[in-house]
Amino acid sequence: MDIYSIISKKKYKKELNRNEIEYFIEGYIDNSIPDYQASALLMAILLNGLTYNETACLTETMINSGDKIDLSGIDGIKVDKHSSGGVGDKISLISCPLAAAAGVKVAKMSGRALGHTGGTIDKLESIKGFNTALCMSDFISSVNKTGICIASQTKNIVPADKKLYALRDVTATIDSIPLIAASIMSKKIASGADKIVLDIKCGNGAFMKTAEEAEELAQIMVRTGNSLGKKTMGLITDMNIPLGKCIGNRLEVIEAIDILSNKGDERLKNLAVKIAAKMLEVTGQFDSDKSERIIKEKLISKEGLSKLLEMIENQGGDIKEIQNFDMDNYIPYKAKKDGYISSINTENAGLAARSLGAGRIKKDDIIDYNCGLYIEKTAGDYVEKGEQIIRIYKGNKDINKAVKLLDESFSYSDKEVKKNPVIYKIIN
Ligand code: URA
Repeated sequence: MDIYSIISKKKYKKELNRNEIEYFIEGYIDNSIPDYQASALLMAILLNGLTYNETACLTETMINSGDKIDLSGIDGIKVDKHSSGGVGDKISLISCPLAAAAGVKVAKMSGRALGHTGGTIDKLESIKGFNTALCMSDFISSVNKTGICIASQTKNIVPADKKLYALRDVTATIDSIPLIAASIMSKKIASGADKIVLDIKCGNGAFMKTAEEAEELAQIMVRTGNSLGKKTMGLITDMNIPLGKCIGNRLEVIEAIDILSNKGDERLKNLAVKIAAKMLEVTGQFDSDKSERIIKEKLISKEGLSKLLEMIENQGGDIKEIQNFDMDNYIPYKAKKDGYISSINTENAGLAARSLGAGRIKKDDIIDYNCGLYIEKTAGDYVEKGEQIIRIYKGNKDINKAVKLLDESFSYSDKEVKKNPVIYKIIN
């Protein structure tokens, strides 16, 4: 076997077998296959696709490239939840505590900000003292104690993905549906949970721009999870506007607390409840209606809020600084015209928050936890010229770039504009 013939086979749209996929992954990891040949194969995959069997086999081979987390020390059914990435997406901070309050064991490994989207770990680290770098035994004992722990990935999970992702990033091969599916599912499965709920975002702020692409990705991921022995469910959800009102780390923690107090943005609340309900349903203990009823009870009784606060305390966090955040200290951003807001370029809104310091451009950039945006008016709302539509929470950086991005992000229409639903489809 040699890599030239594998590249050539994919160039002619032929299906690769298990041995060939393993040869590629193992050879790329041990440096016997150079970047230029791996790039050629990735581009052939991007252009010609992978069959379902190839994708499942690639996922499995990538899982086997590193450590697999053993969560057998946790009593109960462990459920993980993953979002394909969005702007203002603080769902994990809301849905995971709600699910944990309903008895689901949430042992979640999360990531940091990537591109224009935020990362759950950065949001949690915006809470003074919150420790995300737990060793495996503390991670497991935390879940046994409180039912929930969210930590950053410490073990050598899926090194094949780290190396391939870095290459895809510089060879314009990120946006391949089978490569995204294998990348995400390999990390989720190696992280050890028994069941998985996927939130696949679609729209102008997401990797997947259309509902069709998002559905294709979701179907492949759900099928791959199920075929590798992890019951998986997926939701396709809207990312044509930022999710909720806040973008930026501390602001998003504040908004999560607000929602768990049964206040705040209804659209965000509905999605968070649905995802938490799926996390309960996927355990197989309750059907969809009963799961949703239980989760709504946990919201109304504020048991979800207590669970979040318990997790914060258990991981060394002090919520006081967040509670004392000065919400009145902002710069208003105003509507440019009278009319209905017809669309928001959500990626730009994420980039605007990043330019204030809420995200990273380079991996080692330092995040300013206090800055971000509060979206007062969104697509479908009627506004008058000069009306305040966004609050800009400024950090140390200049706001000019953020303002320019926001100027380019909002479109207005004289005609009434329909609001998109927050959930497009559920895949069980
Ligand atoms: N997120 C991932 O983890 N991998 C991809 O390929 C794309 C998004």
